[in-house]
Amino acid sequence: MGSTTSVLFEPATIGSLELPNRIVMAPMTRSFSPGGVPGDNVVDYYRRRAENDVGLILTEGVHPNTTTADGTPNVPDIVTAEAKAGWKKVADAVHGARGKIGIQLWHEGPYRNPAKSSSPDIPSWSASGFKVPGKPLWEPMSQAQIEQAITEFVDAAVAAKEAGFDCVEFHGAHSYLLDSFFWAKTNQRTDEWGGDWTGRTKFACEIIHRTRAIVGGNFPLIIRLSQWKQQDFAAKAAQSPEELSQWLSPLVDAGVDAFHCSQRRFWEPEFEGYDLNFAGWAKKLTGLPSISVGSVGLSGEFTATYAGEVSQPASLEKLTDRMGANEFDFIAVGRALLQDPEWVLKIREERRDDLMEFSKDALATLY
Ligand SMILES: Cc1cc2nc3c(=O)[nH]c(=O)nc-3n(C[C@H](O)[C@H](O)[C@H](O)COP(=O)(O)O)c2cc1C
Repeated sequence: MGSTTSVLFEPATIGSLELPNRIVMAPMTRSFSPGGVPGDNVVDYYRRRAENDVGLILTEGVHPNTTTADGTPNVPDIVTAEAKAGWKKVADAVHGARGKIGIQLWHEGPYRNPAKSSSPDIPSWSASGFKVPGKPLWEPMSQAQIEQAITEFVDAAVAAKEAGFDCVEFHGAHSYLLDSFFWAKTNQRTDEWGGDWTGRTKFACEIIHRTRAIVGGNFPLIIRLSQWKQQDFAAKAAQSPEELSQWLSPLVDAGVDAFHCSQRRFWEPEFEGYDLNFAGWAKKLTGLPSISVGSVGLSGEFTATYAGEVSQPASLEKLTDRMGANEFDFIAVGRALLQDPEWVLKIREERRDDLMEFSKDALATLY
């Protein structure tokens, strides 16, 4: 192991979950699960990463229902018996390779494409009916729909535990359903589910709190958050550390074990005048472990991928400097690990010449 990267290979914990190193596979939608059921190709894909020493695998986003959550073809769910059985095979295979795996639960909310959903006639769910702030497309979610969504998330988390997952990550980032409640520009509600940060976090808090009551204390719950929005990459849902504290504190009280703080470039400071990134602030403000992410080991950020830009391998110095200073605990790696199941080994063994470039061609195969 090279001394410069040794900080990545120290053990650490998320709640009761002991992890051998600090590298997390970022959740990445792969769309290889027809009918919502992950098959043997998905089993092999995750097993390969476990065999090659990824510390914690987070699955692609998985739908907690097969109606309003679903707007992307061939995304898996964990609702049907077949899907749950498929995920059990995935978890067993990862454990057989001495790996750990968490499921990401993803409700597409206002970013669901109804035309591509299995329920195209059902209107999409979101806090106030906005995709673009100020332009309502649907009715705000009713009280009954909010209760239904909470129940579906909780049931999905419980099903994941039963299927053998080691933890759950709730996808609260990137403008999807949970995030539509967090961001003031898409949550204009005047009832208990809107208003200040206490109101705007209530939906996520109910999900976390009610899940915790069923799964118990020894099953880590992670929440993924992003300041940036698909509608506005420069958005800051929290404008200051004080506001960020108001966002995170209710989630801590509800029982979350770690924050996964999505940035497109992990080295960018979150607030003017301070060097800490988003995950750095989450750790500092809450004392909980945090996971950072964004362009690790690659020259370009992930949204450029879709425009066809090829990303070259890049140095890890900025990362090891920040992790060496204990700014955050874990680093999630997306495209580099999608491209190359052996990425972690190559980094540990300093096989820099073996690292691969990333192009969107990699999305067409599941290896
Ligand atoms: C193909 C692809 C699919 C993604 N799907 C998801 C997803 O399902 N859930 C999620 O939270 N983020 C998703 N992301 C974002 C990644 O988790 C990660 O934050 C992003 O790729 C930045 O990390 P990277 O620069 O290491 O790739 C996806 C990214 C890519 C490239």
